[in-house]
Amino acid sequence: CVPDLLWQRRTYIVTIDLAVIGGSGLYKFPGLEHTERHALDTPYGPASGDVVVGDFAGRRVAFLARHGESHSLPPHRVNYRANLWALHSLGARRVIGVNAVGGIRTDMGPRVLVVPDQIIDYTHGRYTSYCDVDGAEVKHIDFSEPYTESLRRALITAAGQAGRAVIDGGCYGATQGPRLETRAEIARMKRDGCDLVGMTGMPEATLARELEIDYACLALVANFAAGCGDEAEISIEEIFAHLAAATAEVPAILAALLK
Ligand code: HPA
Repeated sequence: CVPDLLWQRRTYIVTIDLAVIGGSGLYKFPGLEHTERHALDTPYGPASGDVVVGDFAGRRVAFLARHGESHSLPPHRVNYRANLWALHSLGARRVIGVNAVGGIRTDMGPRVLVVPDQIIDYTHGRYTSYCDVDGAEVKHIDFSEPYTESLRRALITAAGQAGRAVIDGGCYGATQGPRLETRAEIARMKRDGCDLVGMTGMPEATLARELEIDYACLALVANFAAGCGDEAEISIEEIFAHLAAATAEVPAILAALLK
């Protein structure tokens, strides 16, 4: 799948203990100190923005805002391949994707944190693989378990140590966005077995697996998905208020993960 061997050899002398891809509501990593910025171009074009590398909890952490630092990239326009490639080329081998989601399951209401264990992909028209260069070897990855189980477990344990409640497991349904879903779409997703709905979980997880990066998702519930709560309509203001509250829990969990 690797399109350009030169890129493979481009190794940076940076040790990254953990990379974090921040979703809606997480555009800067609180507490990241002594930072340096890496503006990386990749064979797939530019990443969503600079990768900010700094010290956090005594470790080297890389942070990338998935939608850009000013939230200028909608989910279907995020260059997922460039983002994962940039983090990998900086030396990141463990990535936590922080994703805003809507809750479908009744116990997954606003401000709940979930570490999902399955995915159903409803997105379309996104670049989902590094294996699309003429003449390149086709690599079929096993994706039965789309997240790295050891990293999922470590995240759940860390949340416990930090005194933060998270739900272990759940199926993340990835939709195209940027609009929210209709009630009928959510009803179908529920029948399919989805517990959560978000717009950015895929193809990020697939691409991480292709690059052999350990990857887990920390999903922050911003609202009940369409038709799952009491409201007739979903308020975008409320989504961002709930997201801000849930996002505030993230640094403590990641600090425990890095211990
Ligand atoms: N649907 C899809 N993505 C989301 C939602 C939702 O209801 N809330 C936050 N991200």
